[in-house]
Amino acid sequence: MISANDPIKINKTIVKNRLTMAPTVKFDYAGADGKVTGKHIEHYRKRAEHGCGLICVEATAVTAGGRFAKNHLGLWEDEQIEGHRSITEACHEYKAVMLIQLNHTGITANPDCGPAIGPSAVETRNPEILSKAMSIEEIHDMQENFLRSAIRAKKAGYDGVQLHGCHGYLINQFISKKTNLRNDEYGGSDENRARFGAEIIRMIRKECGDDFIISVRTAGIEPDVATAIRIGEEYLKAGCDYLQVSTGIEWEDPSVKEDEGHYNKFCSLGVRFHDHFKGRIPISCVNSINTPEQVRYLIENELVDTVDLGRAVLADPAFCEAVLDNAQYKKCFDCPRCQYGPGMPHKCPAKNR
Ligand SMILES: Cc1cc2nc3c(=O)[nH]c(=O)nc-3n(C[C@H](O)[C@H](O)[C@H](O)COP(=O)(O)O)c2cc1C
Repeated sequence: MISANDPIKINKTIVKNRLTMAPTVKFDYAGADGKVTGKHIEHYRKRAEHGCGLICVEATAVTAGGRFAKNHLGLWEDEQIEGHRSITEACHEYKAVMLIQLNHTGITANPDCGPAIGPSAVETRNPEILSKAMSIEEIHDMQENFLRSAIRAKKAGYDGVQLHGCHGYLINQFISKKTNLRNDEYGGSDENRARFGAEIIRMIRKECGDDFIISVRTAGIEPDVATAIRIGEEYLKAGCDYLQVSTGIEWEDPSVKEDEGHYNKFCSLGVRFHDHFKGRIPISCVNSINTPEQVRYLIENELVDTVDLGRAVLADPAFCEAVLDNAQYKKCFDCPRCQYGPGMPHKCPAKNR
């Protein structure tokens, strides 16, 4: 039987256990220069020390215009590499495999940072303003931005990158028929809507090498699971090494079910992906996995390959030790206090208990 303590190979890299830290942005840590601070280094070092096998550093902007807010981490220029190197060095000490999530907000752009741009002209956060539909040249420039950030990530010592392909940001906006109304090679069929992300994967593979891990945090439903799986197939064809499944923009699929007491509907998307992709590419699920019993259920029953942990390890990094060694831990209260949003106080009552 597979256990949460068992290693797993992703591309050519061995991850020492099945526990991965989900990307969780820390707005109050970075300044307007988008650089890593000592708070980031200590935050991630601690999660590595307590046993996360793989850590995916939070959503990191590939251009200054694609930030969530002015105090959002970046890798859009070379001066930002050094700080990231401090994170990877601190975490590699504990043998954590290090990925970084690369993102652009697209049509959900924060007007303080840049214009809303995306696959098509659609409603933005401000209903009076439509996004600007990207020209083919702008699409290629944006793909270059992702590539350049990935190259910087490699220079900073990351073992790979995770493309942010879910939660309604730019790569997801190309996938969703609600936000992608194009009728050129980047719109229409599943293959065309996946092209923006798939080409980024190919570009990164070519420049960063065969050993560099390329993960996509993909929408497990868009608008249904079957379509989302077909998009996953396109990423796999392009050379993706790892699919970390979360949610998308549209949710129209009555077949999605929770497994009461074990995992919720969001998590079930990863389980459905695993059913489909089993043995071909590692799959993770995420959302409200905050007891060791849930982790063990998902891994021991081979429902997914790895579990992605967000709030459980924000509340208490010792959650990993609770899974691996039955240590004591402080349980996430599932309260809205750490829900992300610029200006939200990420004060965790569990952490301060
Ligand atoms: C404070 C906070 C910040 C987050 N930041 C990101 C992020 O940078 N990128 C991302 O893909 N998801 C982000 N998420 C979503 C989490 O990765 C995760 O999918 C979600 O919290 C559900 O998992 P959980 O119940 O284990 O926390 C964030 C969530 C929280 C609570």
